[in-house]
Amino acid sequence: MTAQIIDGKAFSAKVREKVAAHVAKLKDEHGITPGLAVVLVGEDPASQVYVRSKGKQTVEAGMNSYEHKLDADTSEADLLSLIDQLNNDPDVHGILVQLPLPKHLDEDLVINSISPEKDVDGFHISNVGLLGTGQKSMVPCTPLGCLMMLREHHGSLSGMDAVVIGRSNIVGKPMAQLLLGDSCTVTIAHSRTKDLPGVVRRADIVVAAVGRPEMVPGDWIKEGATVIDVGINRIEAPEKGTNEDGSVKTRLVGDVEFASASERAGAITPVPGGVGPMTIACLLANTVTACCRANG
Ligand code: GUN
Repeated sequence: MTAQIIDGKAFSAKVREKVAAHVAKLKDEHGITPGLAVVLVGEDPASQVYVRSKGKQTVEAGMNSYEHKLDADTSEADLLSLIDQLNNDPDVHGILVQLPLPKHLDEDLVINSISPEKDVDGFHISNVGLLGTGQKSMVPCTPLGCLMMLREHHGSLSGMDAVVIGRSNIVGKPMAQLLLGDSCTVTIAHSRTKDLPGVVRRADIVVAAVGRPEMVPGDWIKEGATVIDVGINRIEAPEKGTNEDGSVKTRLVGDVEFASASERAGAITPVPGGVGPMTIACLLANTVTACCRANG
């Protein structure tokens, strides 16, 4: 079997179009423009790229983007004071604090200081609890994007065996909750799982979210399974030659060995161009949701 490629780039463009249409309607009919505030502490290069991209796509969807860039040595009190200000700003409907934060800041404390209604990441403990109990909540963007692709491909996921590899709060755990909500039989696998190959071989749906380049070989994948690869790992690619400074060129790979998995899977997301673009599209959608809820 040669897998169908699930094109996250094309799908995310459709989601962003829908978001933009909704934003235009909110402006025309209610005079409201959704606003997203993104807070970046420090100068982590990967975080800077993500934050720039989030701001650009927010504006492209017709929304207001408020970027707050703080020094790496910003005190916890100053960060909490900014969040308090954003919580009370009626023009700000969504707040995202880019993670990871510098070590001296308490990530849980910071996230839980965001108003749950404006927590477009869905990381606040209230939203985690609401999702876990099947109530209306803000849903974390990456797992939401994965679920949308799975629903688009399969229609109903009811009764399918799903394995989520990775138990992070950002992806693994909420992904498992969402799949359970769609009536899958869910296994969460992790570094201590006994017989990981056996667990993966039984799954109709495999979501890989560990951040280890190509750790899932193709021969673990059940014939016809759907593979959602959340990993974005940069590895050296000597076959591409060297840069001007003599360093080896690099390429992006997922957590799954794409070429061999494609021969067995029924459908698979590529890296890049799979889950990645869906994450920001879902962030924009969450911001519109937060805006609508705030305005009744
Ligand atoms: N860092 C990596 N992924 C994310 C994300 O989804 N949200 C935030 N706030 N930070 C991140």
